[in-house]
Formats: sequence, structure tokens, C-alpha cells
Amino acid sequence: MKRKLAVLLSGRGSNFISIADAIERGEINAEIVTVISNKPETPGLEAARARGLRAIALDHATFESREVHEAAVRDALDQVSPDLICLAGYMRRLTPSFVDAYPNRIINIHPALLPSFPGVDAPKQAIDHGVKVTGCTVHFVDAGVDTGPIIMQKAVEVLPDDTAESLAARLLPIEHQTYIDALRHLCSKPWRVEGRRVVL
Ligand code: GRF
Repeated sequence: MKRKLAVLLSGRGSNFISIADAIERGEINAEIVTVISNKPETPGLEAARARGLRAIALDHATFESREVHEAAVRDALDQVSPDLICLAGYMRRLTPSFVDAYPNRIINIHPALLPSFPGVDAPKQAIDHGVKVTGCTVHFVDAGVDTGPIIMQKAVEVLPDDTAESLAARLLPIEHQTYIDALRHLCSKPWRVEGRRVVL
């Protein structure tokens, strides 16, 4: 049976587009049941509309508090009962009560090898620290910042003349492939979470 995916995004949506393309190619046994953005005019949301997907803007700036905005996001999600909620450049911190409502069902992609360089500007953090290898991480979301159980990681070499921008650009296609590979597994093969370990 096809898994139902919801996608939450805030920006250009390249990870969303890459996941949607992989589903169309039959690489992930899933369907995207909704795309939600906290930014109303974002390219990712436009791309979702262009594909005929249920695309919803819930502009956090128009809600009276984080909790009220999250309640609206939860309503929109619960209307379509997703199996997995994929964060794809969703730039809002989720409260513990939101995370607790979907245990081991919210997934994020982060452009570093966690637990190194959590939070924003991970490629810049990697350059500033002088690491020779970085990469990307697909992980379940818990109440911390990029701290949840790790599903899949891929490494990328840092080149001597890399800038934060060139590194981020080289990471992006690797992120896309890692997210696809992780979702392909989660949607069609057995997996379980044992403490911090995701057993694929
Ligand atoms: C990606 O680099 C992802 O790792 C990070 O935010 C960025 C989103 O890019 N969480 P896009 O909107 O999917 O193109």
C-alpha cells in the first residue's frame, strides 16, 4: 500500500520537487497528500500547485502565537492522515507537543553529518571549523534541534577552495538522493527505532 506523505517547506522546495519526481518515477512507494508552507508565496508551494497537489499556505505571521499556528498545521495534516511528515527546508522550530503528536513520523534533511553542525548555516559551520568531510543526514525529528534518531547519512568531501556556497551547492544533489533513498526504504521495507538507533 502506498504511504501517505505530507511535506512541510518554507523556501525554494528543491527537496520536495526531487521527492515528487522520484515518486513519479516509481522509486518511492508513496503519494504526497499535502504540501504546507508557512510562507505564502514560496516557490516550493507554487511547484506543488503546478503539480496539482493539495498545497496550503499557513503564514505564521498571521497567527497570534506559535501554538495557534501549529494547531492550524496539525489540523491541515490530520485532515489527510499522513504516514510520514517530511520537513523539506521548513524553517520553523516545532514545539514538543507537535513532535509528540507524531512520534517517529516526522523526518528532516540536514546539510551536515549530525551531530556535527546542527542548526542554521551548516555548510558555513563546516567550512569555519575546517572539516575535510561533511555530508547530509536524514533523521527523525524530536524536540531538540536536529537531535533525533538518524535514518541515513552520506558523506561529501570538503575541497580546499570550497566556500559555504560552493559546498552547499555540491551537497544539494546528495541531499536529494539521500532523502529519496531514506523514503524509499521507510515506505517499502521494514524498519524500527530502538532508542537512538534506526534499524533499517
Ligand atoms: C536544504 O539544504 C536542507 O538540507 C535544509 O534546508 C534546505 C532546503 O532546501 N534543511 P530546499 O528548499 O529543499 O531547496
